Amino acid sequence: AAPPTSERPRVLITRRVFQDLQARLAEHFEVRDNPADAVWSGAELREQLAGCVGLMCTAGERVDVALLDAHPQLRVVSNIAVGLNNIDLRACAARDVTVTHTPDVLNETTADLGFALLLAAARKLSEAERYLRRGDWSKWAIDQFAGADVHGSTLGILGMGRIGQAIARRGALGFGMKVVYHNRSPLPAEAEQALGARWVTKDGLLAEADHLVLVLPYSPASHHIIGAAELAAMKPGATLVNIARGGIVDDAALARALEAGTIGAAGLDVFENEPALHPALLAAPNLVLTPHIGSGSMATRRAMVGLAVDNLIAALGCGPDAGRPPA
Ligand code: DGY
Repeated sequence: AAPPTSERPRVLITRRVFQDLQARLAEHFEVRDNPADAVWSGAELREQLAGCVGLMCTAGERVDVALLDAHPQLRVVSNIAVGLNNIDLRACAARDVTVTHTPDVLNETTADLGFALLLAAARKLSEAERYLRRGDWSKWAIDQFAGADVHGSTLGILGMGRIGQAIARRGALGFGMKVVYHNRSPLPAEAEQALGARWVTKDGLLAEADHLVLVLPYSPASHHIIGAAELAAMKPGATLVNIARGGIVDDAALARALEAGTIGAAGLDVFENEPALHPALLAAPNLVLTPHIGSGSMATRRAMVGLAVDNLIAALGCGPDAGRPPA
C-alpha cells in the first residue's frame, strides 16, 4: 500500500502541468506544485525546493551551483525539455544528482514548427497578414509580397540530431529540396543516403543554403555561432530559422542584417533573453516571430510531461526510501 502522504518523499514541480499526469507523481510522492503558474525568481525556487528530493522543471528555471549547494538533499532533476542548457550538468554530476530530459517525443512537432517558420518567413506571411489587417489592401500587384520559393531550393541544416533529421526529411521528401548540413561529425553514409543529405563545412553551409535552419544545442561553443560575419556569408536572399535556443544567433546582428537586406528573411522561435525580445527585432523587416512554441502541440506537451513524470519516478524509485542514498 502507498505510504501516508506525510511519509512520502517530497518533489517540486515548478510550473503548472496536466493534472492527470501530475497525479501519477502524487501516488508516490508529496507533490509541491505551482497552481498559479507563477514564474519564480532564483530565490523563490530555492525556497520552494526546501526538503525536496526531486525537481521537475522547465527550460525557464536555472539549476546552478547555488541552488544545488542550498539543497544537498536533492537527488533528481527531471527537465521537461530536450535542451539541458538551463542545468549545470557538471555540478549535478559532482553531487550525484541525476538529470533527465525529454528527447525524441518532440522531434516531429518541433520540425513542423521549423518548417512553418521557414515557409512563413520565405513567403512573407506575417507581413502580408499585418497588411490585410491594417486594411491596406487596395489592389493586386505583380510583385506584392513576392518572396522566395521553398520547393526545389537548397535547405541547410546546422545541427543534424534527431530534430535536424526530421527537418531534412520534410525538405527532401515533401518539398524536393537539396539538403546540405553541418554537424561536428557527419552521419553514417546510409543515413545520409536515406535522408538525401550531404555533409558540408560550416562555411560551405552558409554559402550553399537558400534556407538555413538552426537545430543545435546551446553551449558556450555555440554562443553567437551565427553573428554578423556568418550572416554576411549567407546568400543575399537567404532565410534563417532558429528553433534551437536563443544565444545561438546574435539577435542584434540579425536585426541589422534584415534591415540592410544582407539576408532575405528570418523566423525565430527562441531569443537571447526570452521572454524579453531585443527591441531591434520588433522593428526588423521580413521577420516572423513565435514565443518558443517549437514543441507546442497539445499531444507533444502531454508526451513531454508524461515522460518527465516517468523519468522522475524511475530515477528516484518508489516508496518511503525514494531519493535516499543507499545506506
Ligand atoms: C526543449 O524541449 O528544449 C524546448 O525548447 C522546450 O524548452
